[in-house]
Amino acid sequence: MFPQNFLDETVLTEEDWETLYKRASEIHQSPELFSEDCRGKILGTLFYEPSTRTRLSFETAMLRLGGDVIGFADPGSASVVKGESLKDTVKIVSSYCDILALRTPLEGGATAASQFSSVPVINAGDGSHLHPTQTLTDLFCIRHLRGTLDGLTVGFCGDLFNGRTVHSLIDALLRRKKTVFYLVSEPELRLPAAWQAKLKDSGVRFHACDSLDECIDKLDILYMTRIQRERGSAPSENAALRLGTETMARAKKDLLVLHPLPKLNEIAPEVDDDARAVYFAQARLGVSIRMALILQLLQKPYVPQNARVSSLPRICTNPKCVTEKEPRLEPLLRMQGGQKICGYCDREIL
Ligand code: NCD
Repeated sequence: MFPQNFLDETVLTEEDWETLYKRASEIHQSPELFSEDCRGKILGTLFYEPSTRTRLSFETAMLRLGGDVIGFADPGSASVVKGESLKDTVKIVSSYCDILALRTPLEGGATAASQFSSVPVINAGDGSHLHPTQTLTDLFCIRHLRGTLDGLTVGFCGDLFNGRTVHSLIDALLRRKKTVFYLVSEPELRLPAAWQAKLKDSGVRFHACDSLDECIDKLDILYMTRIQRERGSAPSENAALRLGTETMARAKKDLLVLHPLPKLNEIAPEVDDDARAVYFAQARLGVSIRMALILQLLQKPYVPQNARVSSLPRICTNPKCVTEKEPRLEPLLRMQGGQKICGYCDREIL
């Protein structure tokens, strides 16, 4: 059964993914056939962080389905500047619309929002935690252009610590067959402990590298990312982590270079003209898969969780976790590789 909310790509079964992929492919081919499917429906977009592609592609998706859009792109224009809690905003806005897309700097924010919403919640990025609709876009792009998600050797380069698109895509590829991972970054921007534990526990092959040159000739997919300065990652001038035409010359002829965008200086501008650089096509494909997701989530009646105020103390130690700002949330905990992990932000509880 397709989940009620879309908080994390890993909640999808193989069958759910196939349904989405098939629908997105049909939409991509003939979008006009779907132009009435959401007539009378309203998408609410609550964007507490800057966004170009994600917000506009969600808005485009709903408009192309014949629906309407409300919301804010700048929290400065909403009651949050007056100190309104996420809970109150979500309770109110979900009573005005049929589906919500939420982007927040609070890690686990979408999970918390789903406890108070009366309509399906889509996680459009929660701090440096996850970005599952970007992952749908990435998976759709890879399968559309490559024909499969199995047996791929995938390089991730850039900010693996704070890059939420990296975290979500690693989770997704861990569930595909025989993925081999190359993780290219500055030593201080390696994956967070919870993701390192997931890779170790799953028994997949993965290698940490200090430069793209160490692995470029082995890759089927290269996922480039920018350094997330706004989340405290130190900018890097390290040429070994930049993709230029010389590195591309050593790559496979059928490599696909993806990037969630925005890109800064991690890719030389000349690489844009290489047919293997597919990041602009990737961003375009994001509209079709988001249309497919909206259709799927609106298919059946929503059962609200109506979460109650918790009297239990906060257990998470991550200052960026939603439980820091919304203190009366029910604590969520799971064990992984002997570590205690917070169920909202997936960070280790210290
Ligand atoms: C990404 C994001 O917001 O996490 N962009 C996006 O949604 N396409 C990547 C980034 O900001 O670096």
